[in-house]
Amino acid sequence: MENKKENILITKEQIEKRIVELGAEISRDYQGKKLYVLSLLRGSFIYTADLVRQISVPTKIGFMTTSSYGHDEVSSGVVKIVNDIPDDIEGYDVLVVDDIVDTGITMKFVIDHVASLGAKSVKSCVLLDKPERRKVDIKPDYCCFEIPDIFVVGYGLNYGDYYRNIPYVFNWE
Ligand code: IMP
Ligand code: MG
Repeated sequence: MENKKENILITKEQIEKRIVELGAEISRDYQGKKLYVLSLLRGSFIYTADLVRQISVPTKIGFMTTSSYGHDEVSSGVVKIVNDIPDDIEGYDVLVVDDIVDTGITMKFVIDHVASLGAKSVKSCVLLDKPERRKVDIKPDYCCFEIPDIFVVGYGLNYGDYYRNIPYVFNWE
């Protein structure tokens, strides 16, 4: 990877601009509601931190860690809860935030889990959507960018646990 050429797909500026737009949209949609942002670790920590600062309605924020067996590039289809939601979310309007919806298996699993805990509503918000790889029927409610079927890193997304700190989204040519 290290000696291949880096190809920037989404710049820092494009991400910033899109998050401002999405934050405004979410703030409008959640007016008068009980918003609980559920951030999925580790991939969405940077996105969540930037997004919530663009949300102007009262917001609780919690984190959850899931894992799917197998290595980083392919989701195995079996999702496990590593750290569960730390709060009682009954009656809350939960917005599940993740870095990417790929096969959709992780997001579907978390949405079902949140619903089973008595949330009033559950929606999803992702930085990236890779619709070509979908295995379950799910479409993110809020999404910054749709991308083709390529493996990307940066802005929270990792390869071998590296590259999360890079402030833009890229792949290798
Ligand atoms: P899904 O369950 O297949 O939708 O997978 C979602 C998870 O797979 C994401 O939260 C990421 O951790 C990981 N993932 C999927 N595609 C990529 C990618 O292109 N780069 C880095 N991680 C990815
Ligand atoms: Mg992830």
